Amino acid sequence: MNPAPRKIVVGITGASGAPYAKRLLEVLESRVESHGDIEVAVCLSSTAPEVWALECGGDVRDALRGRFPMWGMRDYTAPFASGSAGWNAMVIVPCSMSTVARIAHGISDTLLTRAADVMIKERRTLVVVPREMPLSIIHLENLTALARAGVVIQPAMPSFYGKTKTLAQAIDTVVGRTLDQLGLSHSILKRWGDKDVTDTERETP
Ligand SMILES: Cc1cc2nc3c(=O)[nH]c(=O)nc-3n(C[C@H](O)[C@H](O)[C@H](O)COP(=O)(O)O)c2cc1C
Repeated sequence: MNPAPRKIVVGITGASGAPYAKRLLEVLESRVESHGDIEVAVCLSSTAPEVWALECGGDVRDALRGRFPMWGMRDYTAPFASGSAGWNAMVIVPCSMSTVARIAHGISDTLLTRAADVMIKERRTLVVVPREMPLSIIHLENLTALARAGVVIQPAMPSFYGKTKTLAQAIDTVVGRTLDQLGLSHSILKRWGDKDVTDTERETP
């Protein structure tokens, strides 16, 4: 018997970094098609469409309609608004400091923050991909509160040790590590230990 599908919510907020969300959804969609072992739903904050339009172009709702189930911002009838529906994991990418603050203080004022609250109370997987620069003490304290509650803080900080050359590769260093946190296998990033990564020209001591 196949394992039960894993149900994953992807939340998108109005922080810079919509291309990370776009790429994560592309990879999850192809996983649904190739393996059929996950179910993916999307929820947006009110600011997400504005930032997506600036950074990816077009209307995010048009881009995702028909590909993923979506609910209105205050539609608390969505299944993942309740712990009993058994959604296993949520990723918030990119995650604004406003959303971090609201989740850290238990303010479930939208479907997105409610879904995050459910993940925390049910001790399920919540991965946030925060983006801000620099981080104030308020941001850091709110992120610390989330980390203490078991949330994975997965900063939108690309790595370059895999001989990253293009923007797409840089995006994949963040998206790939996010997929790792969901326990989903992939090959979109080069890992430390891969032969062509660790082969460097070293000075002879
Ligand atoms: C183009 C643009 C980029 C933004 N980038 C960030 C960002 O990187 N981080 C952040 O915390 N807020 C950023 N903001 C501000 C948030 O959109 C704003 O605080 C909003 O209230 C967040 O609400 P939400 O978390 O419900 O989406 C940005 C806004 C715009 C218009």
